[in-house]
Amino acid sequence: MRDIFLRACRGEDVDYTPVWLMRQAGRYLPEYQAVRSNIDFLTLCKNPKLAAEVTLQPVNILGVDAAILFSDILIPVEAMGMRLEFSDKEGPVLSEPIRSKAAVERLIIPDVEEDLPFVFETIKILRKELEHKVPLIGFSGAPFTLATYMIEGGTSKNFLNTKKMMFQSAPVFHYLIEKLTDTIISYLSAQIKAGAQAVQLFDTWAGMLAPMDYKKFVFPYVKKAISELKKEGVPVIYFVNDCAGLLGEIKKSGADVIGIDWRIDMSDAIKKLGKKIVVQGNLDPCALFLPKEKIEDRVKDMLWKGEAAKGHIFNLGHGVLPQTPVENVIALVEAVHTYGRNR
Ligand code: CP3
Repeated sequence: MRDIFLRACRGEDVDYTPVWLMRQAGRYLPEYQAVRSNIDFLTLCKNPKLAAEVTLQPVNILGVDAAILFSDILIPVEAMGMRLEFSDKEGPVLSEPIRSKAAVERLIIPDVEEDLPFVFETIKILRKELEHKVPLIGFSGAPFTLATYMIEGGTSKNFLNTKKMMFQSAPVFHYLIEKLTDTIISYLSAQIKAGAQAVQLFDTWAGMLAPMDYKKFVFPYVKKAISELKKEGVPVIYFVNDCAGLLGEIKKSGADVIGIDWRIDMSDAIKKLGKKIVVQGNLDPCALFLPKEKIEDRVKDMLWKGEAAKGHIFNLGHGVLPQTPVENVIALVEAVHTYGRNR
């Protein structure tokens, strides 16, 4: 197996900078669309054979240095007892959002192996398929990001319901995020047991918080989850979208790797994090719409900046957008592999 990604996560010496991309499997790939034309998204997530197939597509098409399990962050939320649907227009919709203590009380802490067997089956298929290829990353939504979906009932602009719960009914919010933290720990531990070789926590919406609220309502739970997961012995990656104002806190999370979005220059992020942390990121996903030579220039710039950290895993600052030209994504991976040699 080409283990350069895992070596970079651990801050070991590497021959070149490894690269994978958030949302590397998905709608921008015609091969994904072909599979999706016969099956809805949630059913695809729950079909181990097909979920494994779409996980492997970017590994074969792009030549990335890691695979990420095909699933969604909301799968365990459904297992906690909420009804989940994906609408083409609105994205995820959770009916009957959580707004009271009674609603939190009704949430189940799932027996993940019993309730989500398809996730672990997919991981087992993938480890066999990837044996001579690249490592497999498992993932979960981070506690706060999952809480926002549960409280808002879907994506939100201002997260007013979430913040109202934090500010007006703090014990209820803490009760909810505690239940989520326990679920996430058992879910990711089971992914590792099934064969995931690294895990990433996606905190897509934590950047919507004032730093003092992140510190009080979110960080203790992230820290707890990471410290429990580190006992499993695989690298833990923590990605916060819109992280710039929170890096002072994020630095103390205990994660092996910190994922950085594109709104902060990589050099500034590394200055804030210090030299003891491996960074992952952080090209603007829209930079994939630049001409190829310009993409190369950005890659060179970022590789050079990444050298100041303990280690650098190249990635986008958020997921690949559905409209992205595949040839540009291939060119990006090639450029990282060409210019990232012998750091
Ligand atoms: O990265 C990968 O290739 C692995 C698969 C993956 C998906 N979702 C597949 C997906 C991963 C890691 C996720 C994580 C996820 N899901 C996040 C965190 C990362 C981020 O983007 O911030 C979030 C917030 C979600 C919730 C979610 N799932 C939304 C808001 C949407 C709708 C909007 C969108 O981008 O499509 C989804 C749907 C989704 N998840 C799709 C895919 C491939 C598209 C479904 C389709 O085929 O129609």
